[in-house]
Amino acid sequence: MNKSNQSRIISGVMNWGKWGENLSNNKMIELIECNIETGINTFDHADIYGGYTTEREFGEAFKSSGIQRDKIKLITKCGIQYPCDSKPFKIKYYDYSSKHIRYSVENSLKNLKTDYIDIFLLHRPSPLMRNDEIAEIISKLKNEGKIKIFGLSNFTEPQIKLIKKNIDVEYNQIECSLTNSEFLSDGVIDFCQTKNINIMAWSPLGSYFKKIDNIHKRIEPVLKKLQEKYSCSDDQLLLAWLMKHPAHILPVIGTTKKERIKASMEAIKINMDYVDWFSLLEASKGKRVA
Ligand SMILES: NC(=O)c1ccc[n+]([C@@H]2O[C@H](COP(=O)([O-])OP(=O)(O)OC[C@H]3O[C@@H](n4cnc5c(N)ncnc54)[C@H](OP(=O)(O)O)[C@@H]3O)[C@@H](O)[C@H]2O)c1
Repeated sequence: MNKSNQSRIISGVMNWGKWGENLSNNKMIELIECNIETGINTFDHADIYGGYTTEREFGEAFKSSGIQRDKIKLITKCGIQYPCDSKPFKIKYYDYSSKHIRYSVENSLKNLKTDYIDIFLLHRPSPLMRNDEIAEIISKLKNEGKIKIFGLSNFTEPQIKLIKKNIDVEYNQIECSLTNSEFLSDGVIDFCQTKNINIMAWSPLGSYFKKIDNIHKRIEPVLKKLQEKYSCSDDQLLLAWLMKHPAHILPVIGTTKKERIKASMEAIKINMDYVDWFSLLEASKGKRVA
């Protein structure tokens, strides 16, 4: 299952700009080049990243890099109306009206300095989304060549079914990792497998490097032992754990460190034993499987 020839690992740009590292144009170029040299050809955006600024900064860096458009795949998302300096909305809300979807796609194209988006996702399900309206505008945008492939993000099985009624859904980007392992039992990933929908995992390292909680404390010693056995780092093991799943999960990594980008690609080669896989799950859950 590889609908758009995207790389197995996808590079998330959420933290490249104002929401994280505030990378300069030159540093962004270096990071784009590093990803491509490493074998990561796919970049995950959303209109809102950096308070609606990161797509544009990436687009400028990509343009000055001189890299050919067909060497990379661009993912972006729309739908969240995020209050910030440039958009003083009263509250955060969702908009999947055809008018907003068209505006957002055309704005992303302008920001990213491209004439097509490889994979376009609805960022989060909205109680007010209309499947007929969404299908109609996405079909038009596909026919116009502005979107190649359509998908969803953070959608449950019934919500995917609702959208799929009128239009083909080829991806679902969801939160999955060893520390957020609900995806193993909530049915979404199994449903996606039956319908040939590719799964992308956002925050594939979960909370492990973000907070030292009880889950971290239980996982850490297990990871330490496995690091010796597999001669690799803890972040590589967390990715290998995710990629062992038969759904052929595509991790969307968030690191901005070149050495970690390279290490992530190396993690594809690790084939974790069942016992090791379950020992990590047991540590995460704090209990044995039934
Ligand atoms: N669809 C959605 O709703 C949604 C939501 C959230 C995110 N996303 C996407 O998912 C992407 C990835 O999310 P994420 O940033 O949470 O991913 P992640 O890859 O799980 O986490 C990245 C974080 O872990 C740190 N890290 C990685 N390896 C480490 C190590 N060995 N030691 C210490 N720290 C380490 C990184 O720091 P360094 O940078 O210092 O390496 C970075 O802060 C985003 O960029 C975005 O594209 C999508």
